[in-house]
Amino acid sequence: MAEPVDLASLTFARLPGKSIPASARLLAAIKQTEKRTFPGNEAFDFDSELKKRTTVLHCVYHTRADGPELCGYTVHIRSKLMTRIHKVCVVEPFREQGIGKWMVGMVLKELKKAAAENVDLWVDTTRVSARRLYEACGFKEVQIVRNYYSPGRDGIRMERNLEVDA
Ligand SMILES: CC(C)(COP(=O)(O)OP(=O)(O)OC[C@H]1O[C@@H](n2cnc3c(N)ncnc32)[C@H](O)[C@@H]1OP(=O)(O)O)[C@@H](O)C(=O)NCCC(=O)NCCS
Repeated sequence: MAEPVDLASLTFARLPGKSIPASARLLAAIKQTEKRTFPGNEAFDFDSELKKRTTVLHCVYHTRADGPELCGYTVHIRSKLMTRIHKVCVVEPFREQGIGKWMVGMVLKELKKAAAENVDLWVDTTRVSARRLYEACGFKEVQIVRNYYSPGRDGIRMERNLEVDA
């Protein structure tokens, strides 16, 4: 368990970015976390996906004396009618401190600024923490698909309309 993190000390940034200190180091930490967290068939291929103009990677880090330390990341895919949040992950020692909620809130703020109207995502029915997080961020369950991820693993699609944003 890491030291409790003060949300005010965190930086939310888009990667890769020339102005981000140690951008390459953060990206390497993201790839490592992705491998540790998700089953092989769900792991995101950052090298090829980030070449696409519509794929957006954000990270959250805090700055230590020896450089930035990754706390979490999100990936979303922009499209005109519906933006899809594809990945949300908080590095294990930093979980359950509000970082996930803060990070998704920052993504929604950016999307609203960019005039996005609707955002959706898929979540495994058994990922209780993720479902709670998305509900806490105002997403509503709109569809359930049996065996969406693999036989026996159902998926829920959740949606958030940014026009009715507080
Ligand atoms: C899902 C995940 C991103 C949540 O991040 P987090 O920083 O721990 O979440 P927060 O601390 O911001 O909590 C957000 C909400 O979820 C709830 N929550 C978080 N972890 C929980 C848990 N283990 N069990 C129950 N609820 C939980 C919190 O209580 C909070 O709800 P509230 O605002 O109603 O109190 C994190 O657990 C994670 O990275 N999991 C592995 C990857 C994953 O499942 N990603 C999502 C699918 S792509």
